[in-house]
Amino acid sequence: MLRLQNKTTLVTGGARGIGAAIASAFCDEGANVILTDVDAKTGQSMADKIGATFARLDVASEADWHVVAERFPDLDVLVNNAGITGLEGPFDSLPPAHDPENASLADWRAVHAVNNDGTFLGCRYAIRAMRKKGVGSIINISSRSGLVGVPMAAAYAASKAAIRNHTKSVALYCAGQGLAIRCNSVHPAAIMTPMWEQMLGDGPDRADREALMVADTPMQRFGEAKEVAALAVMLASDEAAYMTGTELTIDGGILAGSAATPGG
Ligand SMILES: NC(=O)c1ccc[n+]([C@@H]2O[C@H](COP(=O)([O-])OP(=O)(O)OC[C@H]3O[C@@H](n4cnc5c(N)ncnc54)[C@H](O)[C@@H]3O)[C@@H](O)[C@H]2O)c1
Repeated sequence: MLRLQNKTTLVTGGARGIGAAIASAFCDEGANVILTDVDAKTGQSMADKIGATFARLDVASEADWHVVAERFPDLDVLVNNAGITGLEGPFDSLPPAHDPENASLADWRAVHAVNNDGTFLGCRYAIRAMRKKGVGSIINISSRSGLVGVPMAAAYAASKAAIRNHTKSVALYCAGQGLAIRCNSVHPAAIMTPMWEQMLGDGPDRADREALMVADTPMQRFGEAKEVAALAVMLASDEAAYMTGTELTIDGGILAGSAATPGG
């Protein structure tokens, strides 16, 4: 028995990385997947590869969401996955500063437009589409960075914290309306995807850089996109029917401890 049989699912940012892994896992579990991305070329080829339907969607664009809502009025699952750090590059020189003292308002707003406007618009579309059946699952991909401060990526961290909180507002709103539309957030850390390429580079020190990035991770490795996808499958499935408004970390143990944890 497939776990997501015939569930119509829309995934944002599905062309690569975590979104592609989620779309692929959902196809394997019998879902009818609408893979969306702002990058139409990569998105179309990924959709063809895994057996999904492609639709171009810039999550920050309200007009794009209107088009999607008209084309796909029925929905069982939405995965709000598209997100940017604002530090992806390539840059001519150093990446822009995103610390609280030096970040530009334009850079701050660009990150929030994708991560927050995108998640807000996605949730709004999903509630309206799912209301007809009164049942559904919305999965918001936040981050470990939404649970702790990140001085050098302040815009990203604040945007991911807002996603965590909006998830809970959506969950409470839907339950209060008597709808079985669930909304939960997922908080990954250090998942090996193209998002990390700028930081890892392709030089001879790549392996050392990788090891350095996960030196503070108790499990001492990067996570895999398919491991996040497995969590999304569970949240989308009827097995999770009593889970709403919750936040699930998938981080190799990072948030189990803190700087205050005694060594050992
Ligand atoms: N990789 C990690 O370590 C990690 C950790 C925590 C959270 N996350 C979150 O997981 C999600 C996916 O991350 P990833 O590592 O796969 O990233 P990625 O950069 O590899 O892929 C992101 C995808 O989103 C698409 N995208 C970007 N802007 C868009 C927009 N405006 N509209 C639609 N699509 C857009 C890109 O084209 C790309 O296909 C993001 O929300 C990210 O913040 C990732």
